Amino acid sequence: MKITVSVIKADIGSIAGHVRVHQDTIEVAKKKLETAKEEGLVIDYYVFNAGDDLELLITHTKGVDNPEIHELSWEIFKESAKKAKELKLYAAGQDLLKESFSGNIKGMGPGVAEIEFEERPAEPFAVFAADKTEPGAFNLPVFRIFADPFNTAGLIIDPKMHAGFKFIIMDVIEGKEIELQTPEDLYDILALIGHTGRYIIKFVYSKDPTIGVAAAVSTQRLSLIAGRYIGKDDPVCIIRAQHGLPAMGEILEAFSQAHLVKGWMRGSHHGPLMPVPLKYSQCTRFDGPPRVVGLGFNLCEGKLIGPIDLFDDPAFDLVRQKAMLITDYIRSMGPFEPHMLGPEELEYTTLPEVLKRLKNRWREST
Ligand code: 13P
Ligand code: 13P
Ligand code: MG
Ligand code: MG
Repeated sequence: MKITVSVIKADIGSIAGHVRVHQDTIEVAKKKLETAKEEGLVIDYYVFNAGDDLELLITHTKGVDNPEIHELSWEIFKESAKKAKELKLYAAGQDLLKESFSGNIKGMGPGVAEIEFEERPAEPFAVFAADKTEPGAFNLPVFRIFADPFNTAGLIIDPKMHAGFKFIIMDVIEGKEIELQTPEDLYDILALIGHTGRYIIKFVYSKDPTIGVAAAVSTQRLSLIAGRYIGKDDPVCIIRAQHGLPAMGEILEAFSQAHLVKGWMRGSHHGPLMPVPLKYSQCTRFDGPPRVVGLGFNLCEGKLIGPIDLFDDPAFDLVRQKAMLITDYIRSMGPFEPHMLGPEELEYTTLPEVLKRLKNRWREST
């Protein structure tokens, strides 16, 4: 049976600043998805939050980029944004950039990761959602999961993974994509994806066609859609596990670095990505630090069995402590690079105005 797993998300407004999604807006989403389930449009759903981002996980049989599923999501975001406006929540409707729906939710503000595949006899997968960062934040962990044998033992010892994987990498500035393979194109892949603001791993495929797609990451960048800053493109990612794919533990191992990502505070700072359970899925200190939640499921004829709150585990305590050590260290730099992003990447800046005002005070340097 071919199943589609869609994760569609938007910041529709949040409580106490950019801290956390309000429960009432989550209830709006659940109610609409329950109706869609009763009507048979979707098989199952799970609604959760990554900080101030409302996350819809939907299973169905309609394939990726399906207008009905995208329209349903759009309507859910519109209605929950309406609730957010009623409650006078902060930045209500932040990510909803267009007025009316026109067939595909991509390019309208929300972030989308979707995969369609033949459900295996056992189909474990994980959904990751991050706040106060951008799609390129997943480049490093996804690379490590599917291409780094120091992270993923299966690349060496599992005969079904030893051939490597195919990566679809998107250039979000040019709107183009390229297919590269591991291990043969390893260095070319790294030459691109280290530049996390531009080259983003969008899909990973197994080289075994019976397995097909292994991972998907949302690649929407709001600033590129709107042509101005309206919030960060807090990303989502779906990864299938086991049986020819990385073990769930290999997938989670890649989040043990607290690696530095862009998008903290006003979308304009680097900070460590901290893996947290749902109860800590809220951004506080300096609007952060950037956080990622991970939910594990199995599929049963498209029904969601789970979730397991994957980072709700002392196994990640030291990673979180490391993230806080990095936080203290990098925060001490205040408005200096590389804590603050460079001028071309700042989401907003006073620099042009300051330069204009100081224009006549410059003199030739001797
Ligand atoms: P099992 O032998 O329990 O299936 O585990 C295999 C595995 O991938 C563990 O990392
Ligand atoms: P969000 O992108 O999560 O809305 O955060 C915006 C921001 O600038 C927080 O400091
Ligand atoms: Mg927000
Ligand atoms: Mg957010």
